[in-house]
Amino acid sequence: MNVEFYSLLGVILKTEILRVDPVSIDLNKIQKAAKILRDGGLVAFPTETVYGLGADALSPRAVEKIFKVKGRPPDNPLIIHIGDKLELEKLAKNIPQKVEVLIENFWPGPLTIVLQKSSIVPKIVNAGLETVAIRMPSNKIALSLINESKVPIAAPSANISTRPSPTSAKHVINDLNGMIDAIIDGGETNIGVESTVIDLTTTPITLLRPGGVTFEDLQKILGKNNIEKSKYNPDEKIAAAKSPGMKYRHYSPKADVFLVEGKSDRIELKVQEIATNFEKKGYKVGIITINQKHQYQADTVEFIGSDLETIAKNIFKTFRKFDNKDMDIIIMEGVKEKRLGLAIMNRLRKAAKKIIQV
Ligand code: TXA
Ligand code: MG
Repeated sequence: MNVEFYSLLGVILKTEILRVDPVSIDLNKIQKAAKILRDGGLVAFPTETVYGLGADALSPRAVEKIFKVKGRPPDNPLIIHIGDKLELEKLAKNIPQKVEVLIENFWPGPLTIVLQKSSIVPKIVNAGLETVAIRMPSNKIALSLINESKVPIAAPSANISTRPSPTSAKHVINDLNGMIDAIIDGGETNIGVESTVIDLTTTPITLLRPGGVTFEDLQKILGKNNIEKSKYNPDEKIAAAKSPGMKYRHYSPKADVFLVEGKSDRIELKVQEIATNFEKKGYKVGIITINQKHQYQADTVEFIGSDLETIAKNIFKTFRKFDNKDMDIIIMEGVKEKRLGLAIMNRLRKAAKKIIQV
């Protein structure tokens, strides 16, 4: 399946799978992975959000490999992962005071902060921008890997570009086996959507990507008027200047995704109508529902939970599951854009071919 990527690299690697129990971490395996990173290799590892594809952030040659294996456009910058807040001062400059309260409340955890970059950050990491994105993950395996490697780790999600982000090692193996040096298998990730990205170089602070830390929680800590959602429509070119990741198609399964938003009873009717229409034409149709009472008829119907935490955890996994069943069409019900719902809808909108309001 990934033949074109193999040939891009020109080599096929033997990817080592290192199974690590998150409750009793085998330090030998972590040290092995850390050495690979220090030697300029690529290691995929679990974080609390999604699996990351790590390289030594201070080595341009190592970071270049990330872009190659993912097929990632070079103008989409990477997040640098750190294990100690003191690292911030090496990677960023003119750090504003408000960083303190954010770190106190949200680190380690799914919050990425964008600051002015220091001179040690290689251009390739942040796509030549004046800023750098930094986060301290809370996953114990991730923290242990960063600390053992003794280098800051640049890591995007460990999927082929445009594919759904991986929430288990199996997903990483499907996308990147034979292309990277090692994968640490630490089980399923907890949150299931990526970190929240905020830009601290603007006043007020800008929310660039909704994620595991909610906008409401950020408002509570920072003050309501001190943070705002990015005004840029992700599809507009201007977004590129702010957070290049926003302009690309993302998170997509192979099937065409139809997202249906609106009142619950109308959603049920509309989803079934779309499904029936496609099935009549001979397409394989999968439906993802968040309401157990909805009675759908389709090739596959999957209930993925009704609370936002469970939905977030299951969404990328379900996209991949439907791909494995060779669905042509996926119809998905929308959620309210409150709390984690903002991140869920952001991912669904980017995955969708068509959005239907009812
Ligand atoms: O949860 C996560 O954030 C995961 C795990 C592995 O940590 N990582 C992740 O990385 O989602 P990635 O590369 O898939 O997404 C990084 C996002 C992109 O939207 C990118 O444009 C944005 O962060 N970003 C990175 N550096 C930036 C910068 N200097 N200014 C603005 N946006 C930036
Ligand atoms: Mg990604």
